[in-house]
Amino acid sequence: MSRTKPTRVRRDLASSLSSEHGPALRAILKSGEAGSLDRFEDAVSDIWRGYRQAAIAMRDAPLAHRLYNLWDGLTTTEVLELLDFPETPEHVRARILEQLGHFNRLSRFAPTVLRALGPRLTRLSGAIGRPVRVLEIGCGDGNFCAAMSVWSREHGVPLEITGGDLFPETVEQARANLAAEHGDVALEVIDALDMRGVEGGAYDLAICLQTLHHFRPGKVARAMAEAARVSRLGFFMVDVARIPALLTISRLGLPLLYDEAFVHDALISVRKAYSRSDLLLLASLASHDPRVRLLPPFHTLVEGGAGI
Ligand SMILES: C[S@@+](CC[C@H](N)C(=O)[O-])C[C@H]1O[C@@H](n2cnc3c(N)ncnc32)[C@H](O)[C@@H]1O
Repeated sequence: MSRTKPTRVRRDLASSLSSEHGPALRAILKSGEAGSLDRFEDAVSDIWRGYRQAAIAMRDAPLAHRLYNLWDGLTTTEVLELLDFPETPEHVRARILEQLGHFNRLSRFAPTVLRALGPRLTRLSGAIGRPVRVLEIGCGDGNFCAAMSVWSREHGVPLEITGGDLFPETVEQARANLAAEHGDVALEVIDALDMRGVEGGAYDLAICLQTLHHFRPGKVARAMAEAARVSRLGFFMVDVARIPALLTISRLGLPLLYDEAFVHDALISVRKAYSRSDLLLLASLASHDPRVRLLPPFHTLVEGGAGI
């Protein structure tokens, strides 16, 4: 029996599809014509369907790959999170984000991200000789904008931070949280999927945390393409990793600390999380030479764009 890892089979599929389709798709983006983002998203969705079919229907696939497919098929869901319904009452959305902020602190999410992001910010700051303009897309209650602002002061690396979120009430929640100690962080309503109001290269770096799994595959690539366009040097995105054990851990552990709405959304997040091969495919359709790696213990980091 072949000892090829399931991740290797999918990674090879992702690589061959991105070499085949990447140049044409990036040409659509580069054209900047009206409707090009929609055409790009549709084309990515088609390629994604082919990728999924090929992964499932592969003949003589190694046993590990077939078992992964079985687990993948049983856990994947199309159910929406409460955070994704525009009709979700404002206080429910605010409470979920508040609990996510608590969970982030408990799981030391910001220090984990800053261990990878910090050296890049330091390098960038040295290279450009002015405050680094950072846009956080999907900033939620602003917990990471606050962490970046503290990091910036502690490390003497000047940053100009903007946080953006789709929902005006969420932006207000972040503004209220940051007003006292981080009033210099700008907060705006920004749609990750359509940043037409933002000029190309307006920021040095676009970051996006724990948000990609909210989007269908075509939209993930679209968000990456938009992030690459508005940032001079590229994007840095972190999302929940697709790890089988995470579902069990979350199902058993989270209800001890959090309410039903948060647990509902957290379990769906884990089921919707993309694998590293998935993200490699989507990122390489949107940008040149992306890099994808595990950010231990429970996240995946995707970087793309001109290079940071
Ligand atoms: C799971 S929360 C993550 C919040 C924050 N990044 C964190 O890690 O604590 C996902 C966030 O993405 C936002 N969001 C969803 N769709 C969006 C879009 N199209 N554009 C911008 N933000 C979006 C939601 O409102 C929510 O605040």
